[in-house]
Amino acid sequence: MRYLVRLVLLSTVIVSLNACAPDGPFETPVAGRWYTVEQVARGEELFQQYCATCHGSQGQGTADWRKTDANGDYPPPPLNGTAHTWHHPTEILLRTIEKGGVPLGGVMPAFGSILDENEALDVISHFQSLWTDDVYDRWLEIESR
Ligand code: HEC
Repeated sequence: MRYLVRLVLLSTVIVSLNACAPDGPFETPVAGRWYTVEQVARGEELFQQYCATCHGSQGQGTADWRKTDANGDYPPPPLNGTAHTWHHPTEILLRTIEKGGVPLGGVMPAFGSILDENEALDVISHFQSLWTDDVYDRWLEIESR
């Protein structure tokens, strides 16, 4: 009985710790990936709010993303693993989200004043969750160089 009471107390503590620390160690890791189930869920909400208008609700981007439009600009590429987003390590992905594409001659708006670094990482985890293991592993190889 005593044991049971302790167990209940302990689990209450764990549950409340978890509630205090949304980025804490109690999140559920996704097997073989750097992020958690919770990050992907938070990232998906942000993605739908800020990115989906251009990159598509499933990250499918523009079919003809390799061709410039009438203004000579590149359209939003897919982020779902079918284009070349996996060539970029986290540092570059974060920079793209923070500063947008304008510094590199592109047209993507900057999100540095809208999303903090953790939110940007959540968004990255969301679109990476759309990648096949094969694409993810190729990215991981670049990431760990
Ligand atoms: C107004 C349209 C628009 C919005 C909104 C937008 N993007 Fe983009 N994004 C682009 C375009 C266009 C490019 C191609 C490069 C450029 O022109 O800047 C791009 C490029 C990128 C790239 C580089 C992809 C690669 O394969 O090299 C990433 C990563 C990216 N966007 C992520 C995001 C994320 C995350 C959001 C939401 C927080 C977002 N974008 C919102 C238009 C947009």
